[in-house]
Parts: sequence; structure tokens; C-alpha cells
Amino acid sequence: GQPGRTDAFAIDIGEWRAGIPMVFADFAVGNELAALAGATVRLKVDATLTLGTDHNVIAETRLGNPKNVVMVGAHLDSVPAGPGINDNGSGSAAILETALQMRNYPVRNKVRFAFWAAEEIGLLGSDQYVEGLTTAQRDRIRLYLNFDMVASPNYAYKLYDGDDSDAVGSPAGPPGSAQIEQQLARFFDRRGLGHVGTDFDGRSDYGPFIAVGIPAGGIFTGAEGIKTPAEQALFGGTAGVAYDVCYHQACDTISNPNLTAFDVNADAIADSTARYAFNTNAIP
Ligand code: PHE
Ligand code: ZN
Ligand code: ZN
Ligand code: ZN
Repeated sequence: GQPGRTDAFAIDIGEWRAGIPMVFADFAVGNELAALAGATVRLKVDATLTLGTDHNVIAETRLGNPKNVVMVGAHLDSVPAGPGINDNGSGSAAILETALQMRNYPVRNKVRFAFWAAEEIGLLGSDQYVEGLTTAQRDRIRLYLNFDMVASPNYAYKLYDGDDSDAVGSPAGPPGSAQIEQQLARFFDRRGLGHVGTDFDGRSDYGPFIAVGIPAGGIFTGAEGIKTPAEQALFGGTAGVAYDVCYHQACDTISNPNLTAFDVNADAIADSTARYAFNTNAIP
């Protein structure tokens, strides 16, 4: 992080197991580790820190059934260390272009695009949005699609494992999540492109949605994890190297994203959004 800014955060997760440093410079990483451990997080915020205000940007189609809302989201913020072009300029740009291209579609369902604030400091924007919904508003959201990092330089086409069929260790998502994963998978299948599952563990803005039982899915091309030899065989790139070596770094600039992955995923995002805009019958 930026010197003098991330240093202002210290997270004490005393219940975390031995061997893990007790103080994290990164609020988001601390939250994730604590969530995995089921630990209690105590935040110590340094007096030099100034907490600001940020806003979600939400736009929805005028047309379409308001009782059957298709939500599509991407976080707009980045970490202080860098410009965040893959994380998450990529997802934000892809959903923005989808919204622009769809603007005159006679959609049957209402399509609501969310550009989330403050994902990197603990899913604050999406969490506040979901928390602020009435039960009736929540029930009208038929599904949520999330796009966070869709152009990683050493990419894999990873689909959130809503059906828990990919042995990646996370539980299945709410009913309907399996169908979303399968619809996204068909896009890659039709193009003769491989795809793999990825943990559906709440590490991005879909977390608050699945926590209240809203079916969700999405595409992810990998962050700090290491590409496997099997993934190299499927997608090319380099096994043994991180999917995005510039993840949360200053080098996540306009030269970081892989434009092949970005192009494919932008199409997959538009395809899935447009299909659900007209027909959500596959979602229970
Ligand atoms: N949410 C993480 C970030 O913004 C990236 C991520 C997305 C990690 C999806 C895992 C799964 O940094
Ligand atoms: Zn990030
Ligand atoms: Zn992200
Ligand atoms: Zn799966």
C-alpha cells in the first residue's frame, strides 16, 4: 500500500493460528483471513487515518419487469498501491459497455448495473446495498452476476463454482447458482474454450448476495494464485507463475491486462446479461 496510508491500519486477529503474522497492512486481506479462520477481528485504526465517503453507482433499465431484476456488478475502486486496471477496471469497463450496448433493448426483465465502492476495504459498498434492501426488494432480485478481474495477464477462465462440481473446496451457492455457472460454461463451450471452477467463498461483491440466498455467479481470471500445469495446457500462459503478478501492485496499469481474455470475457458478460435480461426461467 501507499506508505503512510495502509500503515495506518493494523488488524489484530489473535485467534488466527500460529505462523501467520499478527498484524496486516491490508484491511481486506485481514478480513479474508479472519473470515477463513472464523476468527474475531479487532480493528485498530490509527488516528492519522481519514475515513472518506464513497458511493456506489447504480443504473437500471427503464424497461423490464421490476419484480424480476437481473443484477450485474463490478467494483470500481482499487487498492491505493496502483491504478487497478485489471482489478477492477476490467470488470467495470466490461459491464459499462454491456449497459451501453443494451440501452435500447426491449428487455423483459429489469437489468440493474452496480459499480460498487470500497470493495477493497471489505466489500463495503455491496454489503451496505444488500443490507439496505427491504425483504420485498431483495425477493425481486432474481440473480446477481459479478465481474472482478476478468483480464489477468496469465489468465484462466474461472467460473464461480455455484454447483460445487469442481472440487475447489467451497460450498455450493444458493439454488440457481449452479444454473448460472452452467450458462456461463456453455458460452465457453460454444467457443471451444476451456473453463475451470473457482472457490465460491465470498471474496468479492457477490458475497453479501449469496449470504442472503440470492443466486449468483461470475467470471474471474485469477489474482495472486499460481497457474497449474493443467491450466497452462487449457489456457496457455505460464504454469508456476501467478495469474496476475501485478495483483494489488503499482504495475496493474493499462499495460497489465491480457486483451484476449478481456475480449472473450466482455463477450461472455454481454451474452449472459442479455440472455437473463430476456429469460430467467432456468433460475428457480
Ligand atoms: N476480490 C479480490 C480483489 O478485489 C479479487 C478476487 C476476486 C479474489 C474473486 C478471489 C475471487 O482483490
Ligand atoms: Zn483487489
Ligand atoms: Zn477486485
Ligand atoms: Zn462448478
